[in-house]
Amino acid sequence: MTSSHIPVMVQEVLSWLHPEEGNIYVDCTVGGGGHSKVILEKLKGKVKILGIDRDEEALKIARAELKSYAGQISLRKGNFRDLSVILAEEGIEKVDGVLYDLGLSTIQLDNPGRGFSFRYDGPLDMRMDRGEFLTAAHLVKQLSAGELGDIFFRLGQERWAKRVAEFLVRERRIHPIETTSDLVRVIEKAIPAGVRTKGKIHFATRIFQALRIQVNQELENIRESLSASFNLVRRKGRICVISYHSLEDRIVKEEFKKRSGRGIRILTKKVVKPSQEEIRKNPRARSAKLRSAEVG
Ligand SMILES: C[S@@+](CC[C@H](N)C(=O)[O-])C[C@H]1O[C@@H](n2cnc3c(N)ncnc32)[C@H](O)[C@@H]1O
Repeated sequence: MTSSHIPVMVQEVLSWLHPEEGNIYVDCTVGGGGHSKVILEKLKGKVKILGIDRDEEALKIARAELKSYAGQISLRKGNFRDLSVILAEEGIEKVDGVLYDLGLSTIQLDNPGRGFSFRYDGPLDMRMDRGEFLTAAHLVKQLSAGELGDIFFRLGQERWAKRVAEFLVRERRIHPIETTSDLVRVIEKAIPAGVRTKGKIHFATRIFQALRIQVNQELENIRESLSASFNLVRRKGRICVISYHSLEDRIVKEEFKKRSGRGIRILTKKVVKPSQEEIRKNPRARSAKLRSAEVG
């Protein structure tokens, strides 16, 4: 895959995570290594970073990208949901900061073979960790119309959730739905033409988002990991989260609020958004929202 990932809100990450010399940080979503590299460059390698990703392919890219900092960064395959266990296995008791840049990287999104995007034809996969069993095709094949409708509504906030689910269950009796194009065709049939063509976003966006969140258990992962991170960060250390849709952002906001004044201080009173200039240069940054909190 040739496309590369442009790290989002780089200056904001540096200012809200506020990495300092001699400290140790966890990049829970190392991806293509973009944010880690910026931190290492800024501090001229005088920090330690543990970079985690569930995706072996992302780690391969990060490894190459961060070659010159091999002594400063260790990369590890894992789910940030298991943050406490991962740190214990690495022999790390406390860190000075944790960074999350949630969602997918461009490298994943633009790889047709991963099945994340309705823009390319590919297998209906959507697993961030290809070692896991459950794919989006399994869900579409096995769940009832009620279960699918619920996922589309809750995780995609799709108005036509029930109708798309019913169409899917009907269509799958005629031919299997195994590729992204198969799924797009059914969504296209289910959502009325007037609605489909009027929206600001592609008509398949919400259904794809819902399936991806469900396949990867994304919301549960964020909640559990954030909850663990408050105990793993040293006093005055920071947690910094970039999210890309309201469901993620709501969890971050809630988890911060729950502990505000009781072990953490919320630093971003208002959510931080990318500049217009950044959005112009990198349209994928447009939905990014950053929140940060200090422990202790
Ligand atoms: C937006 S990208 C991060 C890009 C990275 N900050 C950069 O600048 O290159 C999100 C990454 O997080 C990873 N990811 C998502 N959920 C994860 C989880 N629960 N555990 C570990 N990695 C996860 C994805 O595989 C993806 O590579």
